[in-house]
Amino acid sequence: MKAVVLAALGLATRLAVTRAQLTAWSPCPDHSDLSCAYFHIPLDYHNASAGNGQLLVVKANATSSEKKGTIFLNPGGPGVSGLQSLVDDTSALMNRTGGAYDFVSWDPRGVGPYTYPGNVYCLSDDEFQTFWNGTIEVTGINWLGNFTNQTDLSNLYAQAPTIDAKYREFGEKCLQGPNATTLQYIGTAATVRDLVGLADAIEGPESPIFYWGLSYGTVVGAWFANMFPERVGRVILDGVLDATRVATLQSYKLWRDQVSSVEDVYSGFANACAMAGPAGCKLAPFEGASGADVVDYISQAFEAAHAHPVSNDLLLLRATVFGGMYQPQMWEQLANTVIPNAIASVLGNASDTSSSAKNGRALARRATFSQNSYTEPAVVCADSVDADPSLTINDIFDEVVNVTRTVSPSFGAFWPIPWHRCSYWPVRAPERYQGPFNGTYANKVLVIGNSYDGATPFFEAQHMAEVMGDQAGLVRQDGYGHTSIYQPSECVTNIIIAYLHDGTLPAGNASSPTVCAIDDSVELFPGVKSVDVPANGTLTDRE
Ligand SMILES: *[C@@H]1O[C@H](CO)[C@@H](O)[C@H](O)[C@H]1NC(C)=O
Ligand SMILES: *[C@@H]1O[C@H](CO)[C@@H](O)[C@H](O)[C@H]1NC(C)=O
Ligand SMILES: *[C@@H]1O[C@H](CO)[C@@H](O)[C@H](O)[C@H]1NC(C)=O
Ligand SMILES: *[C@@H]1O[C@H](CO)[C@@H](O)[C@H](O)[C@H]1NC(C)=O
Ligand SMILES: *[C@@H]1O[C@H](CO)[C@@H](O)[C@H](O)[C@H]1NC(C)=O
Ligand SMILES: *[C@@H]1O[C@H](CO)[C@@H](O)[C@H](O)[C@H]1NC(C)=O
Ligand SMILES: *[C@@H]1O[C@H](CO)[C@@H](O)[C@H](O)[C@H]1NC(C)=O
Ligand SMILES: *[C@@H]1O[C@H](CO)[C@@H](O)[C@H](O)[C@H]1NC(C)=O
Ligand SMILES: *[C@@H]1O[C@H](CO)[C@@H](O)[C@H](O)[C@H]1NC(C)=O
Ligand SMILES: *[C@@H]1O[C@H](CO)[C@@H](O)[C@H](O)[C@H]1NC(C)=O
Ligand SMILES: *[C@@H]1O[C@H](CO)[C@@H](O)[C@H](O)[C@H]1NC(C)=O
Ligand SMILES: *[C@@H]1O[C@H](CO)[C@@H](O)[C@H](O)[C@H]1NC(C)=O
Repeated sequence: MKAVVLAALGLATRLAVTRAQLTAWSPCPDHSDLSCAYFHIPLDYHNASAGNGQLLVVKANATSSEKKGTIFLNPGGPGVSGLQSLVDDTSALMNRTGGAYDFVSWDPRGVGPYTYPGNVYCLSDDEFQTFWNGTIEVTGINWLGNFTNQTDLSNLYAQAPTIDAKYREFGEKCLQGPNATTLQYIGTAATVRDLVGLADAIEGPESPIFYWGLSYGTVVGAWFANMFPERVGRVILDGVLDATRVATLQSYKLWRDQVSSVEDVYSGFANACAMAGPAGCKLAPFEGASGADVVDYISQAFEAAHAHPVSNDLLLLRATVFGGMYQPQMWEQLANTVIPNAIASVLGNASDTSSSAKNGRALARRATFSQNSYTEPAVVCADSVDADPSLTINDIFDEVVNVTRTVSPSFGAFWPIPWHRCSYWPVRAPERYQGPFNGTYANKVLVIGNSYDGATPFFEAQHMAEVMGDQAGLVRQDGYGHTSIYQPSECVTNIIIAYLHDGTLPAGNASSPTVCAIDDSVELFPGVKSVDVPANGTLTDRE
């Protein structure tokens, strides 16, 4: 609420301009094809005595000789590095924009070794192993299918007192650790003000801001558009997390939405693999196998891992499959190398329950997801609604079981999940934007969602477009993956180029989105066109 008042008075921008400063561009660490600089920031835009920090800022030059402007990019997570995302995705982003714009991103507050406040540490590596030893925090939850096995359920609920106590103690550790005083300053409202300050420094004070938010970056975008409606130049929300629900729900309720399309994506992956057959896809167990046979084949490894609950093999395997669903351009490699290797190592290690093997696996898991940094929960929980004191760990477990039974049997009971610990998180950001989200912007907003997105289902894009009403246009890219950028669609590219050029929106709105096909040439496996692959039905593990 504070944010609304300040923005209305025009104070916010002025604070950003006077306190912020950009250093000269130079080649980025290890990536000389990108330019980097530091941007000095106040830790708290409303309290100068809180001290200062800095952001690592990164720029990919427009590839066309006729540069039209700068697009600021937040790649999501929260916790994804802007530097890494431009290293990985500049080619896809340039293709989507005709190469006519510089892309500027940054390692946001809470991210990486160059930004301060950067990665969030509450436990040292040594403490980490001892602190979580034997808990679902490192082993994950052991379940199959619809989570009806009574032993699995008892094992989960038996951990309730431990997890409850550990999460409380963990909050205290964070407040005693190296990041005690900065933990509150890494929230999204501060990141929005950083964006505005950066745009002032790069494009000039009061310049219309061109912004593209991917995934959690759509929350940054929705907050930006409504905190600074007069600064909206172009805003693309791509792979939408529904900011209205982030602003109103206890965070553990957000997981249900997050996984509500992932079974469809998984069945699309399995169908595509089956269409390729054993010659094109190693996970197709025999000639003529169906998508369900592919899922059955993978489920056999789930079952083998499930039989050894002291390891976290099942968690690793599920995480490999789940994470793989984000990027369909990698599905061939996922199916022919990554998943087969994961299966082989699970089957090979199924009998190895020595404690060193277990610890190795626990660390591998942390490394896969967060490099031991708690950035993701630190940001989402700093932004989260106030904790409901009546909420218990059993309520959260109940929700996890319910989501597994009613939404996603393959991935519903993942643990740990950042959203699930917010009622235990010790701080909230001094500024949170909690609505309204239906402002009147200087320019309209383009909302994009995929038909099959394993982390941000289309209905979230649709709902944000509905809330924004005539201030937004809505496009549905009829393909797979998390955000639009991993599958080329000339139709979406043309929409984006026209929108960036003069603000033209497609006719689509929340009740009747513009639908764009994936380019006919795009193959998921050799000879298997993406446009030919159906995503039908929910495929479950074998029980
Ligand atoms: C990007 O463009 C600027 C000039 O606008 C130039 O100084 C810089 O070297 C370019 N960076 C790269 C990595 O090409
Ligand atoms: C501003 O920050 C200082 C230093 O952290 C703190 O002591 C003070 O209480 C803060 N003031 C407000 C109004 O939050
Ligand atoms: C970008 O377009 C070029 C030329 O069509 C193509 O070779 C390249 O693979 C595309 N990059 C991505 C990431 O799609
Ligand atoms: C946490 O502390 C580490 C080590 O001092 C530092 O590198 C990092 O930037 C800090 N992060 C935050 C959020 O304060
Ligand atoms: C974890 O717990 C087991 C069994 O209680 C114990 O043998 C092992 O030393 C512990 N490991 C760590 C790193 O604390
Ligand atoms: C339930 O899961 C346990 C392992 O957690 C396993 O030993 C048992 O066989 C399973 N029961 C059924 C009916 O599948
Ligand atoms: C399985 O064992 C091999 C060799 O012991 C090891 O390299 C690999 O990391 C293990 N895999 C897992 C998932 O622990
Ligand atoms: C599962 O959650 C849904 C939605 O919150 C709720 O309507 C339903 O009653 C829950 N089912 C059970 C068995 O708790
Ligand atoms: C699992 O739940 C889904 C959705 O409720 C249902 O369609 C399916 O039949 C259930 N499967 C089993 C094995 O109970
Ligand atoms: C904007 O949304 C708020 C709820 O957040 C609602 O009360 C208000 O009527 C809406 N305004 C318009 C113009 O739709
Ligand atoms: C949405 O678009 C459809 C098709 O163009 C149109 O009929 C409808 O009136 C629009 N709805 C709103 C709320 O603008
Ligand atoms: C299967 O999915 C396709 C889109 O991928 C859809 O057109 C078709 O209606 C679906 N069929 C069934 C039986 O759900």
